[in-house]
Amino acid sequence: MNHFLDIHRTDAGDLRGIIDNSLAMKTARAGRPKGAVDSEQPLAGHMVALIFEKPSTRTRVSFDVGVRQMGGETMVLSGSDMQLGHGETIADTARVLSRYVDLIMIRTFDESVLTEMAEYASVPVINGLTDRTHPCQIMADVMTFEEHRGPIKGKHVTWCGDGNNVCASFLHAAAQFEFDMTFTGPMQLDPEPEFVGLARKAGRSVTIERDAVKAVTHSDLVVADTWVSMHDSQSSKERRHNMLRPYQVNAELMTHAKNDALFMHCLPAHRGEEVTSEVMDGPQSVIFDEAENRLHVQKAIMRWCLGV
Ligand code: CP
Ligand code: NVA
Repeated sequence: MNHFLDIHRTDAGDLRGIIDNSLAMKTARAGRPKGAVDSEQPLAGHMVALIFEKPSTRTRVSFDVGVRQMGGETMVLSGSDMQLGHGETIADTARVLSRYVDLIMIRTFDESVLTEMAEYASVPVINGLTDRTHPCQIMADVMTFEEHRGPIKGKHVTWCGDGNNVCASFLHAAAQFEFDMTFTGPMQLDPEPEFVGLARKAGRSVTIERDAVKAVTHSDLVVADTWVSMHDSQSSKERRHNMLRPYQVNAELMTHAKNDALFMHCLPAHRGEEVTSEVMDGPQSVIFDEAENRLHVQKAIMRWCLGV
């Protein structure tokens, strides 16, 4: 069963195949209306369930459009509207859904919900974000980097801010796509040691640097994300902002990265907080390419899951 649960749990050769396939599918439909179907219809006759226990704009729309472009049908479900949100077990939900649909994408809180869904489903399950990881996003980021700058192998990525779920998937990608990383942020928000260790064990350099200017020096890519994720309590907002303010990505900080460094953010962004509008809308920013590439890369992920 080809579940797409995390980048480090997927074969590196398969990940490379997914990126190559995404680029090919993107090129094949360039310039066509978004609602036009692809010339190939690999998902014809397939039904895909998209389950959201947290809000979403990009993941929801890009999966829905992607399935339709490939000839399939979708069902968008909110966790709270399902019996899942009212006491039915994840295992029973997984077994029932597997009788109706061919593929399940779930965005949830605790990672255990995702892994239990995958354990009991008899159809592939895709991780659409958990509190701990966001693999589809980083596949789109790798694709975006390579479109602009060529192979990511051997490049240097600096993550600024909170060592959160998106940062975790970047560390997984560092191991699999063979690039190096620096994390810069407050000690309290360091990425999980397990994930840092995983990238290091794969032979990658992972540096923890408290000084943001030093951290971005020699970087090919600077990345930021929200300072308060969906799973963080709103009561922690002020404390987190105070800790994270020195790690804002602004035009001054970007002058210390390589001249041709790119800027990425998975979005939604909080302009003037983790990143300034000057950087988001500046020449080094590829944030909207990243958002678009969610569509293309997830189409390739779904094809890989279904073997079509
Ligand atoms: N980047 C991302 O996953 O966006 P959404 O929360 O809008 O899906
Ligand atoms: N770290 C953010 C990513 C949103 C796409 C969150 O989990 O809220």
